[in-house]
Amino acid sequence: MAAAAATVRRATAGSSTLAIVVLAVVVASSSLPPSSGASSSQCSSHTFSGNGGQPYASCVDLPRLGATLHYTYAAATRTVSVAFRAPGTSSGGWTAWGLNPSAGGGGGMVGTQAVVAFRHSNGSVVAYPTVLDSYAPSMAPAAPGDLAFPVSGVAAERAAGGESEMVVYATVALPAGKGTKFTHVWQQGSAVVDDVPAAHPTTGDNVLSTATIDFSE
Ligand SMILES: *[C@@H]1O[C@H](CO)[C@@H](O)[C@H](O)[C@H]1NC(C)=O
Repeated sequence: MAAAAATVRRATAGSSTLAIVVLAVVVASSSLPPSSGASSSQCSSHTFSGNGGQPYASCVDLPRLGATLHYTYAAATRTVSVAFRAPGTSSGGWTAWGLNPSAGGGGGMVGTQAVVAFRHSNGSVVAYPTVLDSYAPSMAPAAPGDLAFPVSGVAAERAAGGESEMVVYATVALPAGKGTKFTHVWQQGSAVVDDVPAAHPTTGDNVLSTATIDFSE
């Protein structure tokens, strides 16, 4: 039942191609035990205009805010290309995804280097790296020298079909000497004031939206 409900919601967002994929998932899951791979099949079937139309190597349905992270890790260069999908980002809202490289893991918002995206008052969807250095960060674009690790290829778009999903793209060079396992943090807020993302709710899922991820998996 849970898988069917999730796919129905997905079907409202998609093209006819996606509808066919969703139908295939419904058919497949009806013939499998209920717990069998429903979430992985959802995120792995997604393709992106920002990745040459190709799927990423891995994906994970994040445990809060209905978000999904798709990623490809290149071991030779220690870089991770990501597409972060945030549903339910209202047209006046913002979304962000980032890594907290602080030693010891378990880090939350403070110390996170994030990529934030929103619709600018001039009509463009803008995206840029920002450093969350306190619980009331400026949310200003970071100067290259402010970044603890390089971020390139930053872009964002509204998902095709005019739905409320935002997709944020970035390529992150993982900090040296810290392996491939990191705390990541994601967030969304409903308001942008004077082209600056305003504070997000400080209860519920909005303060629980952090997890550990190993990009080599
Ligand atoms: C809107 O403003 C952003 C940030 O200054 C800029 O990058 C973008 O090019 C602007 N878009 C238009 C259509 O002027």
